[in-house]
Amino acid sequence: MTVDEALGRATLRLKGAAILSARLEAELLLAHVLGVRRLDLHAAGGRELLSADAAAYEALLDRRAGGEPVAYLTGRKEFYSLELLLTPDVLVPRPETEMLVDRVLELKPRRLLDLGTGSGCVAVACAVNLPSCEVTATDVSPRALAVARRNAERHGARIRFLEGDLYGALPEGERFDVIASNPPYVRAAEAARVATHEPLLALDGGPSGLTLLARVIEGAPGALVPGGTLLCEIGEDQEADALRLARGRFSSAEVARDLAGQPRLLVAIRYSVRG
Ligand SMILES: C[S@@+](CC[C@H](N)C(=O)[O-])C[C@H]1O[C@@H](n2cnc3c(N)ncnc32)[C@H](O)[C@@H]1O
Repeated sequence: MTVDEALGRATLRLKGAAILSARLEAELLLAHVLGVRRLDLHAAGGRELLSADAAAYEALLDRRAGGEPVAYLTGRKEFYSLELLLTPDVLVPRPETEMLVDRVLELKPRRLLDLGTGSGCVAVACAVNLPSCEVTATDVSPRALAVARRNAERHGARIRFLEGDLYGALPEGERFDVIASNPPYVRAAEAARVATHEPLLALDGGPSGLTLLARVIEGAPGALVPGGTLLCEIGEDQEADALRLARGRFSSAEVARDLAGQPRLLVAIRYSVRG
């Protein structure tokens, strides 16, 4: 079977499993098996697959059709034009989270805190693009932190990693210009359904989805410098809750929309004098 034939069959197979980007994912998986870049597959369309490669490809297609994210199968995911290493210990970074990085880069903080860093995607993208920024990244999961450390090393990003429960990971009295966070914000019942392959810890926001979000918002004024900014990703149905939680704690709070027009990011600024 040639590369082109394998891709055609795999695309049909993934379409049959209701996978939307079937062709793209078929290419990503075959490139992974062959150890080449996806773009190089086109030039190799007529090449015959070795039987070992064909068998390895079949095995990956089975797993993908069974619901495993393609990023766990390849162990890689692109985020903010950076190739990150991934394991099932961390959430697969979502494209909408790139908006969090955009906003951090606009603010150009001197000191940045990434709360719940997971793969390190936000912290690494910010550190790479703001080389003079002191970046601290925390997570309660040591296994996630191990992945984030590898990603930081891979991209030469200098990041201080701390393990612990949200702000409890920080040394007493530390203050940041910007806090960026993408906390777990999915309702527990839905998280249990969604997290068939991703870590529940990364998705489960408690019964209402707001448990971690509330703690991130309520604790932010105590970890921000006066006038500092909290940037917190939220679910598309959480705009009113996020604004209610921020009310009275910040000098201003608004929710920015993502490229799809959905409420996505709470932007809250700490009072300059009190708060
Ligand atoms: C939605 S994931 C976001 C990961 C990454 N920042 C991203 O955007 O892909 C949330 C992360 O928060 C971490 N987390 C969950 N509960 C936490 C807690 N109490 N304290 C610190 N981190 C926590 C999880 O381990 C997970 O890595």
